[in-house]
Amino acid sequence: MADETTAADIVAQLEALEREAQAQLAVCAAEADLSDWRTTFLGRSGKVTQLLRGLGGLPKEERPRVGQLANTVKGRLAGALEAQQALLKRGQHADTLKSEALDVTLPGDPVRLGQLHPTTQVLNAILGVFERMGFQVVEGPEVEWDHYNFAMLNIPSDHPARDMWDTFYVDADATKNFGSMLLRTHTSPVQIRVMENTPPPVRIVAPGRVYRNEATDASHEAIFYQVEGLAVDERTNMGDLKGVLTAFARDLFGVNTRVRFNCSYFPFVEPGAEVSISCHVCGGNGCRVCKQTGWLEILGCGMVHPNVLEAVNYDPARYSGFAFGMGVERIAMLKYGIDDIRYFYNNDIRFLQQFR
Ligand code: DAH
Repeated sequence: MADETTAADIVAQLEALEREAQAQLAVCAAEADLSDWRTTFLGRSGKVTQLLRGLGGLPKEERPRVGQLANTVKGRLAGALEAQQALLKRGQHADTLKSEALDVTLPGDPVRLGQLHPTTQVLNAILGVFERMGFQVVEGPEVEWDHYNFAMLNIPSDHPARDMWDTFYVDADATKNFGSMLLRTHTSPVQIRVMENTPPPVRIVAPGRVYRNEATDASHEAIFYQVEGLAVDERTNMGDLKGVLTAFARDLFGVNTRVRFNCSYFPFVEPGAEVSISCHVCGGNGCRVCKQTGWLEILGCGMVHPNVLEAVNYDPARYSGFAFGMGVERIAMLKYGIDDIRYFYNNDIRFLQQFR
């Protein structure tokens, strides 16, 4: 009979069906596709089952062989389904990993770095210049005796120059050996302490905090910083003073800075001078920073007074020296064009961060 199904037909159909099923399974991309596929091929009225119905038309002795083949095919498809399921799961897992991934290349929360205070930065710069010229850095106490702050610096207790340096007294009992105890008004007493303990030559700079009993305004603070300098040796002269301070001014404010020495008075020096530099903002033409004068006063200085040398048992006939003193905030204000000294003590981060 022409329409009689033979074993060979069924085997060929089975093989074709398996290929079709495998091909469709390979493109199943979701759980729902898999379940449709199972219904289509392995379900109770699926294609494999339908094909097996044709088994009944085969001669009895052929049925077991073809039936067995059909079961093998069924088993292979079931296995393939499981494999595809696993593959899909792995893919989902990878998607999850991807969507929940932590990007370690993103920048972290920045840690805010601190910085040195502008006063400290300028102080370090000042000390650096003098260190390179062979000066040694020393420090003295902020709570000082009248003796060192005034008397030894040629300012006896009845001297009118004391009016220049009103201060805060820790202990006003002037009957003590060294007089009353006070907050030092300048770093000059460090000169005395060094000379008392060191035979000449000396070459020192002394940084530190000083105090004044003064009303605070744009150019005055009750607490500020100074750097003192002292050089004593045989034959030290005014030329040495001018050379050192000119080199200092040019190092800090630029090589083209001009330096001017004006006579001035400080009890512990003779002669005494005020040093001004040509205004580095306008080049000397006159501007807001130099108040139209073209000059900026940066420090006081002079040749150490013979009375001061004698007081520390240095022989003024053999030794001479120069000294200088400057306000650190003042130098910083001139360098950066800051018009109010109070900025240094407000702790305003907007001001401070400009000195990174
Ligand atoms: N001690 C002075 C002051 O505070 C500054 C000064 C001037 C220091 C002249 C010196 C100097 O060593 O020679 O105003």
